[in-house]
Amino acid sequence: MLTLLDLTGVKKYNFISVDLADNLQGDEKDFIVMTLMQKTFWFITLIIFPLFVYFYPDLNRWGHFVTYLLAIYAVVGLHDIFFSKHTLNRLYPVAAYIRYGLEFIRPEIHQYFIASNTDELPFNREQRSLVYRRAKSLDDTQPFGTEMNINQEGWYSAMHSMAATTVKEDTKRILIGGSECKKPYSAARLNISAMSFGALSAHAIMALNMAAKMGNFYHNTGEGGYSPHHKQGGDIVWQIGTGYFGCRTKDGNFDPESFQASAILEQVKMIEIKISQGAKPSHGGVLPAAKVTEEIARIRLVEAHKDVISPPNHKAYSTPEGLLEFVVQLRELSSGKPVGFKLCIGLKHEFMAICKAMLKTKIYPDFITVDGAEGGTGAAPVEYSNRLGLPCIEGINFVHNCLVGTGLRDKIKIIGSGKTATGFAIIEKMAVGADLVNAARTMMFSLGCIQSQSCNTNKCPTGIATQDPKRGGSLDYQRRHKHVANFQQHTVQSMFDLLGAMGVDDPEKISAHILWRRDDDGNNKRFDEFFPQLKPLELLGDNIHKDYVHYWNKASAETFKAKQPATA
Ligand SMILES: Cc1cc2nc3c(=O)[nH]c(=O)nc-3n(C[C@H](O)[C@H](O)[C@H](O)COP(=O)(O)O)c2cc1C
Ligand code: SF4
Repeated sequence: MLTLLDLTGVKKYNFISVDLADNLQGDEKDFIVMTLMQKTFWFITLIIFPLFVYFYPDLNRWGHFVTYLLAIYAVVGLHDIFFSKHTLNRLYPVAAYIRYGLEFIRPEIHQYFIASNTDELPFNREQRSLVYRRAKSLDDTQPFGTEMNINQEGWYSAMHSMAATTVKEDTKRILIGGSECKKPYSAARLNISAMSFGALSAHAIMALNMAAKMGNFYHNTGEGGYSPHHKQGGDIVWQIGTGYFGCRTKDGNFDPESFQASAILEQVKMIEIKISQGAKPSHGGVLPAAKVTEEIARIRLVEAHKDVISPPNHKAYSTPEGLLEFVVQLRELSSGKPVGFKLCIGLKHEFMAICKAMLKTKIYPDFITVDGAEGGTGAAPVEYSNRLGLPCIEGINFVHNCLVGTGLRDKIKIIGSGKTATGFAIIEKMAVGADLVNAARTMMFSLGCIQSQSCNTNKCPTGIATQDPKRGGSLDYQRRHKHVANFQQHTVQSMFDLLGAMGVDDPEKISAHILWRRDDDGNNKRFDEFFPQLKPLELLGDNIHKDYVHYWNKASAETFKAKQPATA
């Protein structure tokens, strides 16, 4: 047994071996059992190291080198045992650092040496490689058949036709804008989803906007505002979040004047009110003072070097009717551009309340963007990402059904967003109701993102999700924007090719019936067997589907709150 006095003079450590520990009684239990690593440490430090020191003059160069190593080992180990705050270091002196080191590079080791083509998340290697290949316009074919288990429960597929066709040219884009909209916008079927300057670097924003210009699709600004980096000529959807960045008063309210000044610019094609996003629904968020540079402060109309808080709710409205009046206000201020809102579906009666408000006021947004709970973000609390909200496919289908059931479907376009890496991922969203699709993370892959998942550290290794000027500045936007444009073009083309193989010549003709899902009994079932498809105007009649009637009865145009059941 070895007794040592802590150098701080506070504690006395008694080290004994594990086999003796079982025989200890009462106070003796205060003894600390020595781990194998501690025993090894004391053996090396008290016996081996002194021997090396004693024979030092007779040793050769390598012997000297080992003596120095042992000295370092002894100093670090003594520090670990007596001063470290970490239990691991105290119990496994020096060796604990090997664990920390391995933990640090674990994602890379897993990604490069262990993960198969199909088991990484959120995007597996097969999906990422496909995006990388399409981004570089390389061969995107696969040899030797699928690596996926196509018999697994929940697997989505579609059926091909013996009468394959091609998609008609004039159906490849879609016009967004209802009767109140003076400047409808012709959108591509795949576009860049909301990601702010702030979450992404200036060069990343520039590359995305240049790609949008090159490929004739739109680029959503995200809630961080419309910055000079966005002004590369690509079409812009300006997103307005609860912080009203770029269109706010000093106290954080919506400012019509500053909104109008940017909204009427030719480059801005549509306006999107952000209600919520799938990765952190109903969570506002803080942009920490360190990230609020002079430039970001100028763009967002906030004070530099101070935390910027985005509240979870909008101040411009508080009721479903209020939201629609805000839509009208933005449409007027933007000289008649399409205005819509983005949300992840949560409490179902709340979305139905908006539908009731549309019926009551006859005000319709031009589009609704439905984000899936599986969506990405720069940073979010884990519980929010894992547990809140409907997944994309179910969310889109719910919104589609509500609009069909209220007779409003032809007035409003639906945009879906959630893990779109392939042409099929576009089709599955369109099959359940989307008219077009946005993608965020796969656009980042085509910019060079390697899914290291350190976007929240400001240390993005590829210069995409960082405000560090050195890292961000290393992203070559002159080259990378072409990759984003390539990815968009090849993915949309693959979607059209697949539709042709299914015998569909117009994306508008696809519906939930074309999508199949493997059930837990092993049978392939049509999507509409899992999720009901409402009939036109069904919600306005007496025979509402049982999955919808409960929420519909709770919804009211005047409030987001649920109506209480009438009591006798
Ligand atoms: C880095 C990053 C920043 C984002 N910022 C916003 C944002 O400002 N506003 C928003 O509505 N969504 C934001 N999102 C969510 C995306 O726009 C998108 O809805 C979500 O990631 C799902 O699409 P995906 O699966 O294609 O990534 C962000 C996502 C990422 C990855
Ligand atoms: S490389 Fe890593 S840190 Fe950078 S954007 Fe991609 S996931 Fe985020």
